Amino acid sequence: MRVVDIGEIGRRVPGGLLDVREQVSSWQASVNRALDECLPDPSTPPARLHEAMRYSVLGSGKRVRPLLMFATARAVGLDESVVESAACAVELVHAYSLVHDDLPAMDDDDLRRGRPTCHVAYDEATAVLVGDALQSLAFQLLAHGRKLPHSAKVRIHLVRLLAEALGSRGMAGGQALDVDAEGKQLTLPQLETMHALKTGALIRCSVLMAAACAPTLDRELLSELAEFASCIGLAFQIRDDLLDVTGDPAVMGKAAGADERRGKATYPSTLGVQASQARLSQLHEQALEALVPFGARAEPLRGLANWLLARAS
Ligand code: IPE
Ligand code: IPE
Ligand code: MG
Ligand code: MG
Ligand code: MG
Repeated sequence: MRVVDIGEIGRRVPGGLLDVREQVSSWQASVNRALDECLPDPSTPPARLHEAMRYSVLGSGKRVRPLLMFATARAVGLDESVVESAACAVELVHAYSLVHDDLPAMDDDDLRRGRPTCHVAYDEATAVLVGDALQSLAFQLLAHGRKLPHSAKVRIHLVRLLAEALGSRGMAGGQALDVDAEGKQLTLPQLETMHALKTGALIRCSVLMAAACAPTLDRELLSELAEFASCIGLAFQIRDDLLDVTGDPAVMGKAAGADERRGKATYPSTLGVQASQARLSQLHEQALEALVPFGARAEPLRGLANWLLARAS
């Protein structure tokens, strides 16, 4: 598995050295184990579909959304194991979104996580079905996840948060705007809406799902977490857009320059690189500001924010 550069994340913080670096590796290992366990055995039929599902999920992804969920669990005083099934559910739907995003009908990309995209390694029909099946499996986990809170109310809330984040007013809607915007110049508000939906919605939902596992959480703290997550979600896609211009494909495990080739509406194509970076820094500060009321309990979330917004892959 490719080594993920977590740069800033292990920095010295007030109150002592926080070894977030080790924490990230250990959380990545737990979520990888849990994903491996929840995915169907490739020897059971339909074997080709099961194999393609595993291929698409178990590659070298950063596991950003599960990491945010574990760190949120810490911030709200929960043990990370409580959110593990929900973290797997989110990573499964994220993998589904990537498989569909790469299809010829969408971004038509051949390389993902350092290897051929699902439709290249298998075929287009399989890639469509991989997305369908991963999405169903995610909701199955929310219904059956053993370690999640048993309360039916909490589980229904989790289902609702995920369904809303994925639908036409969330990720799928944002992807529709993205495809429609090819070759066009968007206004800044249009671009911001598109990014907040196609990428921001699932990232925001990750944090809110972890917080939903602590139903007695103070409402003000919940709204600060929502603010943090909205800022990070939008900033994450700005960083992704910037990497498409300035990043190294060998480090990213996906092509660079693909957005320009397809005439995608992105932050750099709309505002230029410098102004995009400035907007990213502003959102980063705003995100950290929202964590102030959490004090030291939000240190893992701060570490993740610093890494995600400065990452090279
Ligand atoms: C890539 O997401 C697609 C976007 C939403 C920007 P990630 O950068 O989280 O991809 P992986 O999971 O690490 O491959
Ligand atoms: C992907 O955005 C958003 C979703 C998958 C929902 P991009 O198209 O920019 O992601 P990459 O650059 O292919 O990873
Ligand atoms: Mg895309
Ligand atoms: Mg893409
Ligand atoms: Mg991109």
